Amino acid sequence: MNTDPNPLSPSISIVPTDPGHAVSLCEAVGEVARERRWLAAVEAFTEGETQLFVQLNRAAGVPQFVALCGPKVVGWCDIVRLYPYPGYEHNGRLGMGLLAPWRGQGLGRGLLDQALSGALAAGFRRVELEVYASNTAALALYQRCGFVVEGVKRAMRVLDGRVDDVVLMARAITDGPPEVLSNTVVLRESSAWKVTL
Ligand SMILES: CC(C)(COP(=O)(O)OP(=O)(O)OC[C@H]1O[C@@H](n2cnc3c(N)ncnc32)[C@H](O)[C@@H]1OP(=O)(O)O)[C@@H](O)C(=O)NCCC(=O)NCCS
Repeated sequence: MNTDPNPLSPSISIVPTDPGHAVSLCEAVGEVARERRWLAAVEAFTEGETQLFVQLNRAAGVPQFVALCGPKVVGWCDIVRLYPYPGYEHNGRLGMGLLAPWRGQGLGRGLLDQALSGALAAGFRRVELEVYASNTAALALYQRCGFVVEGVKRAMRVLDGRVDDVVLMARAITDGPPEVLSNTVVLRESSAWKVTL
């Protein structure tokens, strides 16, 4: 199997997720979750849960993509419909991640661009996400792609001796380019708040 970690290599492809990817996707999400840094989950979902997730997203026609190196899923990005309430149908929730060797080489941007390009057709007009304030790479990527900070859940996670804020971000989905704004003031304010354990 080709394990070339260079996403610019022709061995990497970004394709819509289908049920045949579920087992490898489950392994990839588990590997990132077990890093205990970037995702709220710290364990893998089951293969059955992952299979159902992929199938429901396909049935709903929402964007979901995987980055493949050969048959192996090395990254994912999806925008799901989270809120089951009338009037909330235009809201999507974004989730993504890459296995560690494939980070910092443009693959995250590639996955995010693909997912966002499918968001309008799927009926989304607003996409939101949650990211830990310590996740500088993800914050940089999201800001570059037009997401703005809507709020901060201060000291939302306390894990392995680390206290982390959860940053709430969102962007509008239109058929034009997004307006890219700076949010440094909000992020600075959030770091002034502390919890006592
Ligand atoms: C967050 C993540 C998806 C970003 O993907 P990536 O492939 O590493 O990022 P990219 O190489 O595509 O970089 C995207 C942009 O962010 C910038 N960036 C990446 N890492 C950065 C860092 N540590 N500091 C500042 N900017 C950074 C890049 O310069 C690039 O900007 P550009 O398009 O203007 O050049 C990836 O690092 C990852 O999977 N991390 C672990 C899981 C995770 O955090 N998931 C998201 C949870 S909310």
